Amino acid sequence: MGDESDRLEAMTDVIVRQTGDLRRIVDEFSKFARMPEPDRRHEDLARLVRDAVMLQQTGQPDVTFHSDLPDAPLMAELDATMIGQALTNLIKNAGEAIQSLREKGAPDGFVPEIRVTLHQRPHDAEITIADNGIGLPEDRARLFEPYVTTRNEGTGLGLPIVKKIIEEHGGSLALEDAPVFDGNSHRGAMAVIRLPSGQATGAISPGETTDEANKIKQEAGST
Ligand SMILES: Nc1ncnc2c1ncn2[C@@H]1O[C@H](COP(=O)(O)OP(=O)(O)OP(=O)(O)O)[C@@H](O)[C@H]1O
Ligand SMILES: [Mg+2]
Repeated sequence: MGDESDRLEAMTDVIVRQTGDLRRIVDEFSKFARMPEPDRRHEDLARLVRDAVMLQQTGQPDVTFHSDLPDAPLMAELDATMIGQALTNLIKNAGEAIQSLREKGAPDGFVPEIRVTLHQRPHDAEITIADNGIGLPEDRARLFEPYVTTRNEGTGLGLPIVKKIIEEHGGSLALEDAPVFDGNSHRGAMAVIRLPSGQATGAISPGETTDEANKIKQEAGST
């Protein structure tokens, strides 16, 4: 009996030590494995969101998608491939959260739903991706850390990469509780993405004295 518990303790020590080593290796690795710089072009964010939704809708035919997107183009300076990848990842997470709820046992009459919105705000564009899946786990503070996953098949690399992509574009990413959808009594999760667009990116508003504005004034001989 004593032998057994000694052995168990010794093995636990080894596991703890090795896990620590792994974490160190991962941290070092993340410092070196640099994300490519975004190749920014003048792109229509509305089209990018629409395309990402369409792609995932095809892949998740039993989920009802609702999108609330502007009809007119919403132009922003961004790397379309990277932002497309980020959107796809978030919509996939939403679908997987719905799948997790079903595996756990969804309420009777459950209608799986993903809602996507895009709006231009005064200084940025806001995208929300809300689902009525299993909801965020208890320990939500660490979800953006690499290798944090609650799914058996997950790598836990999705969110850190998405966050990095958004931040490289000068934006922000947050995960919140989704509003309660009609006919539901539980909350899923909602990703909120903000990306610089509109006036904040490049356009010079009246009265603003940026270097660019001064240069234009000088060239026009008005100083
Ligand atoms: N829409 C969501 N609803 C509920 N939990 C979520 C949602 N999106 C992410 N999470 C939680 O955050 C964790 C980390 O997500 P992340 O995308 O980084 O990894 P993953 O989806 O588990 O794995 P992978 O992205 O490699 O498939 C998930 O395991 C899940 O617990
Ligand atoms: Mg993921």
